[in-house]
Amino acid sequence: MEYIQRIQKVSVLGAAGKMGSGILLLTAIEMADQMLKPENQGQSFVLNAIDTSDEGLVGLVKYIRLQVIKAAEKKVVSLRKVYSDKKALIENSDIIDAYVQDVMSVVRTTTRIEAAYDSTLIFEAVSENQALKEKLFRMINENNNSQPWFFTNTSSVPIGGLNKNASLGGRILGFHFYNPPAVQKLVELITIDENPIEMVEFANKYASNLRKTVVPSNDIAGFIGNGHFMRDALFGISEAERLSDEMPLYEAIYCIDRVTRDFLSRPMGIFQLIDYVGLDVVQFILRVMQPHMQGEKLHSSLLDELVLKGVKGGQFSDGSQKNGFLKYEKGKPVAVIDNITGSYVDINTFNESADHWLGAIPAEVLPWKSLVKVADKDKILEPAFKALQVSSLKGCELAVAYALNSRETARKLVSDGVAHNEKDVNTVLLTGFFHAYGPINDYL
Ligand code: CAA
Repeated sequence: MEYIQRIQKVSVLGAAGKMGSGILLLTAIEMADQMLKPENQGQSFVLNAIDTSDEGLVGLVKYIRLQVIKAAEKKVVSLRKVYSDKKALIENSDIIDAYVQDVMSVVRTTTRIEAAYDSTLIFEAVSENQALKEKLFRMINENNNSQPWFFTNTSSVPIGGLNKNASLGGRILGFHFYNPPAVQKLVELITIDENPIEMVEFANKYASNLRKTVVPSNDIAGFIGNGHFMRDALFGISEAERLSDEMPLYEAIYCIDRVTRDFLSRPMGIFQLIDYVGLDVVQFILRVMQPHMQGEKLHSSLLDELVLKGVKGGQFSDGSQKNGFLKYEKGKPVAVIDNITGSYVDINTFNESADHWLGAIPAEVLPWKSLVKVADKDKILEPAFKALQVSSLKGCELAVAYALNSRETARKLVSDGVAHNEKDVNTVLLTGFFHAYGPINDYL
């Protein structure tokens, strides 16, 4: 089956979720772009957006429409060529409307899993629940006569196990997008020996059409991205717990979040990132990884305690951030959870003393937003890390310890055989987590 035939009948499972909606968006655009090519005129393209809640699917359509308008605005010049035979489309807004209509014409929302019984390609982005994933794969595989390919977005569950338990005969691979899929450039590709070669070739071509960077990971629980993120997160939590000997835990969480964002020029502090992914998702990933990582403790009692209290983070269907370790207003952290009372403490009540305790950020350290745009980052990062290293201020010391732990974690992923090489680990952090520099560097 050619690329074009494979991409004509597609389903996304969990389409209304935060990952599913991004995968649906990117796939709908790719399908419409293929449909609009002269050689494919008249062919049908169907993308089933499958999810359990009608309300979620309504929110999904709103999200897709808005994002397609943005995408169309960015490529209006090339779209004008695509629609050159449609003389009635004069203004840019006509072109944009036509494109939005074409993309939306591909998408069929449904709560019925049966829609996937006719698909040749299935993207799976349901919640991180291995039993649920296997049940859905088995159901579709048993009822679909076209030997479909399954691309799972699992961020942690080994693909070999899913293949075996759902009896898929090698027609599954890990195609792991990063959040938000429309923004992050990375796809982590996890293949298994049983995969047909054409399936892997298709995966690479599809990723390339989406303009994604592909990094291969070996099939080891957590893969590269979460192999780093989980250990980075646990280190952050343990650092905050250690600091809580000298300040309340909520203040320590604020300090570590600030160090990991502002002192290390990352897009988000580590606690904000845990909230963004979801405390319950992080807890699940740790549980999946733990049995595979003998001799290492991948667990946080604080995380368990908060999830038990219903503090889960994650996002609302409009993409806004739910409260987790931090409480958000208009996307900005405004308070931190007090694990004892379960209520949030306003940052304004303690940030002055906490910021004083951390000390000033060295002038050489640029905020992430400015740093990502700089072409020659070495010129900025070498003096920035030097300044952090020579300083005896608490914030700088914490930042250096954090960066060293991140580097050690990254190197371990290579020595444990998860990543093929150090460059791949750096690429995952640069393109999946939008870091401005890789964890394995010579700055320290
Ligand atoms: N869908 C589409 N576009 C989105 C979006 C979404 N959900 N969220 C943000 N964007 C777009 C914005 O519209 C904006 O686009 P324009 O520049 O065209 O206006 C752009 O992204 C930047 O957004 P903002 O200006 O609002 O904010 P920002 O510059 O601070 O960037 C961010 C936001 C991209 C989320 C950035 O903070 C970031 O990359 N943070 C790190 C996120 C991260 O680490 N993700 C990986 C999580 S781990 C994972 O996914 C794997 C796993 O298995 C757990």
